[in-house]
This record gives sequence, structure tokens and C-alpha cells, in this order.
Amino acid sequence: MTIPRLQGAALATVVLVAVGSVAAPTAAGAAPGAPGAARYSAGAASVGDPYFPDQGNGGYDVQHYDLTFSYDPATRFMDATATITAVATQDLDRFNLDFRGPKVSTVTVNGHAHGFTRRGQELIVTPRPKLKAGHTFTVVVKYAGVPGPITDPDGSIEGWVPTDDGAFVAGEPQGAPAWLPTNDHPTDKATFRFTARVPAGLTAVGNGQLLSQKTRDGWTTFTWDSTEPMATYLATITIGNFQVTESTTPSGIPVYVAIDPRLVAGSAAAVAQIPQMIDFFSATFGPYPFASTGAIIDRAPDVGYALETQTKPIFSSAAGVGTMAHELAHQWYGDSVSPERWSDIWLNEGFATYAQWMYTEHTGGASVSQTFNSSSNYGRAASSPFWQTVLADPGPEEMFSNIPYNRGAMTLHALREKIGDGAFFRILRAWAANHRYNHAATADFIALSERESGQKLTAFFDVWLFQKGKPTTW
Ligand code: ARG
Ligand code: ZN
Repeated sequence: MTIPRLQGAALATVVLVAVGSVAAPTAAGAAPGAPGAARYSAGAASVGDPYFPDQGNGGYDVQHYDLTFSYDPATRFMDATATITAVATQDLDRFNLDFRGPKVSTVTVNGHAHGFTRRGQELIVTPRPKLKAGHTFTVVVKYAGVPGPITDPDGSIEGWVPTDDGAFVAGEPQGAPAWLPTNDHPTDKATFRFTARVPAGLTAVGNGQLLSQKTRDGWTTFTWDSTEPMATYLATITIGNFQVTESTTPSGIPVYVAIDPRLVAGSAAAVAQIPQMIDFFSATFGPYPFASTGAIIDRAPDVGYALETQTKPIFSSAAGVGTMAHELAHQWYGDSVSPERWSDIWLNEGFATYAQWMYTEHTGGASVSQTFNSSSNYGRAASSPFWQTVLADPGPEEMFSNIPYNRGAMTLHALREKIGDGAFFRILRAWAANHRYNHAATADFIALSERESGQKLTAFFDVWLFQKGKPTTW
């Protein structure tokens, strides 16, 4: 999706990667730069994010994903048609999608059937006629089979995770291609529509708003519409036996909560506080960025974490109050403003963790400075291995360890103490407003902090973000 301000820089990177990585396969017959050389070339097979080098692709910008599918938990069989609308950002004779799902039967581009190949997570399409830069094109991918989970560098699972009554669907940082052909990187957001047909009695819960729900011949079809741009890793269409509750926050935002009946009691306190969490965060961070909110509380014991799936965070067991606050705060920081590179993950996890500390204080629990000083945070001994990871580059194995969460939140609190509440809260609001529905990098946050505070913060960010060791002066 077109991303006005930062896109220039991001696009330049993509094009460079494209030239570098496709030179060999397309070299035959085309002398680059020579007069009359073909203008068409292959889109890059990557956006060049070092944590997940196969993620994302170049040469196009996705506008919209439409996925229509049936899924039967009894057989775990999925039958799907994905329609992807994109704009070519270069003259393309080949492009890739990221896909690790079941067997593909056909791929069409603008209605013409095409050859395709699969290599690792790359679904490689050679459109004919070729695609001209600036033109919108439509890719339809039909596939069927049994989708499954993907294992991350930290050993956790994501993607399409079958449960005892359906499937838990979550995609951070690389799970979306388990079930949907995508340009799988947060720098290419799009709108989404999911139409899921599941056995009657089950509910399919997606991001955004429920457009329709119809039961016929023993199957129910749910259509979910995500109207604001979304990163692929935040997509879900989770299926199960759910108790559904619909309400609205005092400020008028629709709330849709789906809970596995076995988890209702254990999640009651967290669910009851969703409206006041949304209101507290809106007052602190600026307006809630999406048209609806809610939660999906499912039983997926092998997953063991929650995720901030857009508009409706997903939980793999009963939801606690702290985790609910964390996942709802991500709607501003992570979902609306996404990381430009996965090494920027502290901008997600540090912010959501700090928001959780603020919510605890707001509701009469420990103050943020008590939490900052506690033994799981600044109170850790300087000799603890905790301090031995660089926050601004934790690596793919540690991107969801307690470093981005706790050291990230501590960094924000230390910044607040250094520059004062006025500048600090202006920064939090400006971060959400300036990069809304977009992506941003650590360097952007440093620049914003210096601008809003009027201070040079090189030494501060150096010790907190770029150096190992327990910060002592800043
Ligand atoms: N972003 C999620 C949260 O903290 C955690 C996702 C963990 N994912 C993983 N593959 N380990 O809210
Ligand atoms: Zn988080």
C-alpha cells in the first residue's frame, strides 16, 4: 500500500536489492544500461531485512488481499482462492509472493493463466503480458490442502496452528505465508477481506468488521473486512467454538470478543476492562486508530503467547489484565505504526510494555517508577546476562525475549525522566500520529525525541539502545 512519506527511502532500498539480486538470472541477452536494453526485469525476491532474508519482495506494492476459503477442522483441509491487487513499481516480467501453504493449482494475472514455480517460501510468477510500472494488476492464486504451523528462530510456532476445535492463526514475524500468498513484510501494508466457510456451530473470527454471517447446508460463511492498512503479520482468521459478545466502548467503538467457552471465567477481568483500556490509551496516545476493537481468546497450548492481531488481539490461553493492556496498546504501537525492520522490534514491545506499566499505575497498582526499579527491570544486577543484548539489534532468536520488552520499556521511562512529561507525551502522540498506518525506524524515533525535547540525545540513546551493559549514566 502506498506509504507517502517514508516510502521514497524504503523503495530506493528495494530497487537496489532488486538490481543486485536478479542480475544473474536475467542477464542473458540484456546488457543493463545499454541503449535498447529491456526495461522489464524481475522483482526482488526479498525486501532485504536481515532477520528474515526471504521475507517480502520487490517490484510491486500490494493494495488489497481478498481470501475466500473453506476449512474443515475434522480433516484440516483448506480450499482457498486468494485475490491480490497490487501496483507494479517497476516494469515486471517476473515477481514473487511469499507462500508456504498447501498445493497451488492455478495462478492468474489480470485473468491470464500463468506458469509459476515454488522455491522455499517463494511463489514465483511470470506474468504475460508483462506488467508496466504504475499499473494495477490482479493476481488470483488457487490452492488446497492442509496448512500448518511455521517454527520461528526462537522455537515458538505460528502460522496456521490446528486446535482441538479449529485453528489458531497468527503471523508474527513470518506466519502469514503459511495460509496466504503475501508480500510478507510490514513495509507493505494493505487492506484485507476474509470470507471463511466453516462447519455450522463454529465461528471464524477475522480482523476488522463482520460484514456478513450466513448458514446454509451445514456450513457458516463469515466475511470480515479490514478497512485500515494492515501488516501481513497482524492478519488472523481464527476458527473455533467461540462464545461471542458484541458491545461498544463508552466512546462508541464496536467491540467483538470471541472466547473459547473453557476460558470465559479466566478471562473475565481482562475482557471487562477492554473499553476502559481503549479509553485510557486514547487519552494518552491519541485517537484509537481502527474502526473496531475486541479480542480472540482461544485454547492453543502449544503456542503459549498472545499477539496483537489488528483490531482483535489473539490469546492462546485465558487472557490476563496485563497482557490484554499490552496487546491493546500495540494497536497504536506495532499495528498502526509498524517496525520498518525487525531489528526495530523494541518500538513494538518496549512501547506496549511501557503502556502496560502505565495501565497498572492508572488502575491503582505499582507506579511506573516502581516497576522500572523492580528486580525484573533496572533492579537486575549489572552482571546479569539480561544486559548483554543490544536493544536496537537483538537478533531473530531474541526478538521476543525480555530484552525488547523490559529494556525497551525502561528506555522509554529513562527518556521520560530525562526530558520531562510534557515532551515525553508529545513524543508518544506524535509517533502515533506521524506514522499512522505506516512503518518507522529507530532513527525516526531518535530524531523525533530530539525535536520535541530540544535536546541532543546521542549519548542517551547510545547507552540505552546501541550499547551492551547496564546503563548507569545517561
Ligand atoms: N508480539 C507478541 C506480543 O508480545 C509476541 C509474539 C511472539 N511471537 C513469536 N513468534 N515468538 O504481544
Ligand atoms: Zn508485545
